[in-house]
Amino acid sequence: MLDLHNRYGAIVRIAPNELSYVDAQAWKDIYLNPLLERNGVWFRKLSPAEPWSIMGSHEADHARFRRAYMGAFSDQAIKQHSQLLESYVDVMMQKFTDMGAEGSLALNIIDWFNFITFDISGDLCFGESFGSTATGQQHPWVEIACSFGKGIALIASLNFFSPLHKALKYILPTNIRQRAIYHRELSAKKVQQRLELGETRNDFITTLLNYNESKAQPVTIKEMELNSSIMVFAASETTSTAMAAIIFGLLQNPAALHSVTQEIRSAFQSEDEVTVSSTMTLDYLNAAINEGIRLGPPSAVSVPRVVPKEGAIICGQAVPAGTFVGINQYPTFRSPQNFSQPSQFIPERFLEGSNFDDDKDSFHPFLMGRHQCIGIRFAWAEMRLILARLLYVYDISFVSEPNVKDWGAQQTFIFWQKMPMEIRLSKRQR
Ligand code: HEM
Repeated sequence: MLDLHNRYGAIVRIAPNELSYVDAQAWKDIYLNPLLERNGVWFRKLSPAEPWSIMGSHEADHARFRRAYMGAFSDQAIKQHSQLLESYVDVMMQKFTDMGAEGSLALNIIDWFNFITFDISGDLCFGESFGSTATGQQHPWVEIACSFGKGIALIASLNFFSPLHKALKYILPTNIRQRAIYHRELSAKKVQQRLELGETRNDFITTLLNYNESKAQPVTIKEMELNSSIMVFAASETTSTAMAAIIFGLLQNPAALHSVTQEIRSAFQSEDEVTVSSTMTLDYLNAAINEGIRLGPPSAVSVPRVVPKEGAIICGQAVPAGTFVGINQYPTFRSPQNFSQPSQFIPERFLEGSNFDDDKDSFHPFLMGRHQCIGIRFAWAEMRLILARLLYVYDISFVSEPNVKDWGAQQTFIFWQKMPMEIRLSKRQR
């Protein structure tokens, strides 16, 4: 898609009925226009009896779910979740020590970012983690969920052929259908178990139950089950991918790795000072996170929006009703129209007062508007904490040259098909 935009410009018709944009103005025209809704292709109900989800195209239910979850994502709530985040990072760092990282240790960091982010989201969505960080073993459910991006992409592709999709779904490989069902069933069981606990834990289920106490239109158990199955994934795969892209960029750019490591190490006297709140003001780390996400955006492609019956003006041009429109993040964030040296990892461009010739208004990795990622603050807290703890304690390097020189050389089927990234952790010498 990047090639297409580079060749044909800021607006490209990528399917008979779909336009892709890379222009900053399109963010406002598409995502801030209340009349443009998510198309129903990507997150269609599996059966008519199934409720809508927070990712679905039913606007009233979407707004109700947002209100119900909002209590878990305020500044106050993030402060309350800090301890939980820090305790999982403690487990990871202890595990590295146990595995021999007092000296030096080689591991696939992609796995470890998955372990910790899924453990945290499991804890918040289901009241218990998957136990992966403590054991160093991928929970089978997480493995299935991570490889499911291709399945969602395939299902979404079949949905394009509505109403034929009902027949076409039978050509879906059995394992994809089984995975979808297993994922839903296990999530539902875990929510049931959490509800049976009856405890007031500091988690998303408590947030939903608190919301229900005062509302005429509560979130039903079925809706909790479905939304938890989405939330557990939205909260983890994205954050894990972002951290992998950031580490990849840093390792390929020794000067940037040096700058970020120096910043972290000079800000703290000891490891226990590295917390959710104390890492907020690390400017270079914040810039490196933005730059890693720019080059490897976890949401590389967009869930298209549909132009309403009135039509819409996007980037100054009239677009007819029914057209699918969207900003695809990967080509947008790498477009020479928006960023100078677009494929280079240069965190400095995100530092206050930088004078790079960049159009930062084109950079919204968490989206804009009413569907903007609900977990932004949470994701930032998690990424800063994990990366800062890692780099405070360890010098990091590639074990061997990675298979790809550019993050973007990997495939994406909604989620990036990330290759293993073997890195060496060497305890820093003081
Ligand atoms: C670096 C990490 C993350 C990135 C880049 C990211 C990105 C996004 C994007 C682009 C969307 C909009 C999807 C669309 O409508 O087209 C989204 C939605 C969402 N994200 Fe995130 N996300 C991240 C982390 C998180 C975390 C940590 C959570 C929860 C704790 C979360 C929960 C959600 C939810 C529930 C939605 C649906 C919101 C709605 O439709 O109103 N995300 N995210």
